[in-house]
Amino acid sequence: MIEPIYAPDAGRYSNGMLYRRCGNSGVLLPAISLGFWHNFGDVDTFSTAKSIAHYAFDHGITHFDLANNYGPSYGSAEETLGLLMRKSFAPYRDELFISTKAGHDMWPGPYGNWGSRKHLFASIDQSLKRMSLDYVDVFYSHRYDPETPLEETLQALVDIVRSGKALYVGLSKYPKEQAEKAYRYLEKRDVPCLAYQGRYNLFAREPEQQGILEQAKANGVGFVAFSPLAQGLLTDRYLNGIPEDSRMARGAFLKKEALTEEVLSRIMALNNIAGQRGQTLAEMALAWLLKDDMVTSVIVGASSVKQLESNLKALDNISFSYDELEFINSIE
Ligand SMILES: NC(=O)c1ccc[n+]([C@@H]2O[C@H](COP(=O)([O-])OP(=O)(O)OC[C@H]3O[C@@H](n4cnc5c(N)ncnc54)[C@H](OP(=O)(O)O)[C@@H]3O)[C@@H](O)[C@H]2O)c1
Repeated sequence: MIEPIYAPDAGRYSNGMLYRRCGNSGVLLPAISLGFWHNFGDVDTFSTAKSIAHYAFDHGITHFDLANNYGPSYGSAEETLGLLMRKSFAPYRDELFISTKAGHDMWPGPYGNWGSRKHLFASIDQSLKRMSLDYVDVFYSHRYDPETPLEETLQALVDIVRSGKALYVGLSKYPKEQAEKAYRYLEKRDVPCLAYQGRYNLFAREPEQQGILEQAKANGVGFVAFSPLAQGLLTDRYLNGIPEDSRMARGAFLKKEALTEEVLSRIMALNNIAGQRGQTLAEMALAWLLKDDMVTSVIVGASSVKQLESNLKALDNISFSYDELEFINSIE
């Protein structure tokens, strides 16, 4: 049978998604966004990837987050998005907010990574081709490059916006001092930084401890949290061992050594509080990030529609009592 043409759910903007303004910009992002780091590569099953992306869009997730080297293989997550654009989403391009990044290892040789103008320009052109897009909504410098003048990286971002290849720019994982300089530089050139993307979850609290969250807010920059579930640790995935189909069993980015007795006991304690709140641990972990307006959006990963479906339930309750917060902090 020929596959029917994708028709998104007519109720996609009235089924509970929250939208938050990204810093001082005109852009609203969904509180929960979808990341393509895992599960969208050419080693994965396209039909599953497609179902996850359709489910996301059908439930108000307008923001998909990519990078040049997401896969594996490198580039293949962007190719998957390109296929999805051609098959499903082309008529809805203006309802989607798509990001990509450059700066990590991508192709061999001296121009295949980091923050040179050469790398950033070549990478955005490759990304646009793979994704079948004329422009991305936000282009991130994926990491700070200590060996390239910061001005070179930032001017390349400015010029990429001026050339129409990206609407906004963002920074990912920049140290606080360099982020401050970057915010100034970009603002002066009328290409203000839209968003800072950093790892933030119940087990990784550096953005609040180092003042990165406050800094973003003070500069009118949105904060987008990646790995909000600590790659799956902050879910029920590992409560009873390591499932064969889990990220930890695959072992590339989440190592078995991460699941120490101590971590497991913290997971269990958090799981108990979640239960008392009537939430799963994953729901509570996402709700905790979204409890106030410091975080614009959390980018979740999902290996199944079921996971995404349950993660969206986090939005049903994002308030915490003082006692709950105290108890959570004591587990940290
Ligand atoms: N800027 C950067 O440098 C950077 C770095 C990393 C990530 N990111 C972005 O952030 C996105 C999210 O990162 P992440 O994938 O690490 O996020 P995550 O949400 O912390 O982890 C996602 C993984 O957790 C498991 N999971 C998710 N929901 C679950 C549920 N309800 N129940 C049980 N298990 C669940 C799944 O793993 P299983 O495979 O085990 O099912 C899933 O693949 C990436 O796709 C990427 O877009 C950016």
